[in-house]
Amino acid sequence: MECPNALRTTLLALFLILDLAAVCHGRLRYGFYNGKCGQQNVEAIVQSIVKNSFTTDPTIVAGLLRLQFHDCFVNGCDASILLDGPYSEKTASPNLSVFGYDLIDQIKVVLESVCPGVVSCADIIIAATRDASILAGVPPFQVQLGRRDGMVSLASLVNLPSPNIPVPTAIQFFQSKGLNPFDMVLLLGAHTVGICHCSTINDRLYNYMGTNKPDPSMNSSYMTIVQNNYCPKGQSNNNYVYLDDPSSAKSIDNSFYKQILNNKGILPIDQALALDGSTRWMVNLLANSTDFPSLFTQALVKLGRVEVLTAVPVVY
Ligand code: HEM
Repeated sequence: MECPNALRTTLLALFLILDLAAVCHGRLRYGFYNGKCGQQNVEAIVQSIVKNSFTTDPTIVAGLLRLQFHDCFVNGCDASILLDGPYSEKTASPNLSVFGYDLIDQIKVVLESVCPGVVSCADIIIAATRDASILAGVPPFQVQLGRRDGMVSLASLVNLPSPNIPVPTAIQFFQSKGLNPFDMVLLLGAHTVGICHCSTINDRLYNYMGTNKPDPSMNSSYMTIVQNNYCPKGQSNNNYVYLDDPSSAKSIDNSFYKQILNNKGILPIDQALALDGSTRWMVNLLANSTDFPSLFTQALVKLGRVEVLTAVPVVY
């Protein structure tokens, strides 16, 4: 009888020691920067700069969401996507159309001027994306901070899912980052904002699988609209089309799921979510509920925790 109790006490003590160590040296926390930047409120500074940027250009929401995804899925959420250099992540092809880098730089400059060397770029990405998402319609939510910036940034390490990825492979990809299939379907809901360059889907529009015909899985009237109004054959690669219904492409809402249920998905992976048996039920659920914005914030928080670096452990 004594032994289990003693064991339990030892385990509890061990747990508390480990937990305390984590609190002191290596855990994400709410209000991480409170009191670390003099009298300044770090998160309020980030929020006000994001708000200003959003006022002049609401597309920053899409820019930051994609930037966070591309940062977190390569070496974890460590801001390595921001590093410059001839072979850095920024130079990898999926990152060439990412934007929002300058806003993160701008925030970093302001924060460095008030408390040098305190706030990581990795945290700025997470806080700024949170603030932008709120401006685009999700309910206010908190994020834990305390990430450390990574020092390695190599284009050769950029292995992001292709828009043609089959759903089961995408599920495995997300699972390898600690995200479950529902997280994946929610996070792909980020495609409720933003655009896709026509070059990414030209084959779907004009030469599906070498047939010289459009992809028959797309709603045929919508296909005509996309072909005529957004991506005419042979036009510039800078042309683009909204990933969601154009009338709702600036707000984070569930119309993306309705769109793909109506076979109006733009990216093959988006459309596949509504066609694959393993994810269709989730798409149905989200298309018919008002819960998406708040569920999205939870999935975004999980994305922000992928393979983070936290403070360097202190060796006594
Ligand atoms: C299987 C996973 C994913 C694939 C294959 C994928 C692929 C793509 C592609 C091909 C584009 C169009 C890029 C362009 O033509 O400029 C795009 C845009 C976008 N993606 Fe994803 N994506 C995925 C997941 C995510 C996630 C998890 C997020 C964020 C949480 C995200 C956020 C965005 C946003 C906001 C845009 C619009 C960007 C803009 O307006 O410039 N994506 N994505």
